[in-house]
Amino acid sequence: MNKNPIGVFDSGIGGLTVVKEIRKILPQENIVYLGDTARLPYGTKSTDSIIQFSLENSQFLLSRGAKYLVIACYSSTSVAIDIVRKHVSVPVIGVIRPGVKKALEVTKTGKIGVIGTTLTIHSGAYEKAFREIDDRCEVVGRSCPLFVSLVEEGWLEHPATQLIAETYLKLLKDDGIDTLLLGCTHFPMLMPVLKKVMGDINYVDASREVGETMAQDLEKMGLQHPGEDGTLAIYLTDLSMNFKEIGERFLGEAMGDVSRVSLGT
Ligand code: DGL
Repeated sequence: MNKNPIGVFDSGIGGLTVVKEIRKILPQENIVYLGDTARLPYGTKSTDSIIQFSLENSQFLLSRGAKYLVIACYSSTSVAIDIVRKHVSVPVIGVIRPGVKKALEVTKTGKIGVIGTTLTIHSGAYEKAFREIDDRCEVVGRSCPLFVSLVEEGWLEHPATQLIAETYLKLLKDDGIDTLLLGCTHFPMLMPVLKKVMGDINYVDASREVGETMAQDLEKMGLQHPGEDGTLAIYLTDLSMNFKEIGERFLGEAMGDVSRVSLGT
């Protein structure tokens, strides 16, 4: 039993989609969330910068007593999870492997599409994870960077979003994938448009799998929180004008008090 919080970080507030699932599966756990809104987006930046930011984010969460770290950002997980693991002494989970495992469970044809930010897709992290878990499938990646801004703008079912989705996803559709892996915090919000464009295939969002894997880990390691209602403390590195409106859309509930922190130099 361990009363310390679970630490979760993301480039911004999209990672609250992961927090939402963790709170459903592990309602007794306290969570400390860090959104690096001052330095977002991560998906268009270099690997070196994202590794540095991810280490700083992890240190902040450890300074808040985190007993377990969740990298809720797909771009960070793609390039930094192995390095974060080497620098910290608590367990670390990312968002890529849990989604890959789920995709392998649901695919029938083995033809899987992955969409994400430019950094995530170009990092090759998904291909590596598929190779390591089961390399019999065919994986096609497509970066969809504009989706991030469209979601933040709230254009979830706007005709412009539909047109952009048709353009981005054409190759995946022509390839005849039977499973689409949503490799970015923001993309589950676009599910209605994705379904309109891609039709009746499997859609995999890793959030639930992340929560379930964590629940098993915490039990195995004897790290569960014994109490009942867990708390959620949210820290952001910048409080933009509309962060609350966007954040609550991701979290599906009120965000409560949010504190600003400064990281790095
Ligand atoms: N959280 C990022 C991700 O999942 C999306 C936004 C960004 O580019 O920072 O990759």
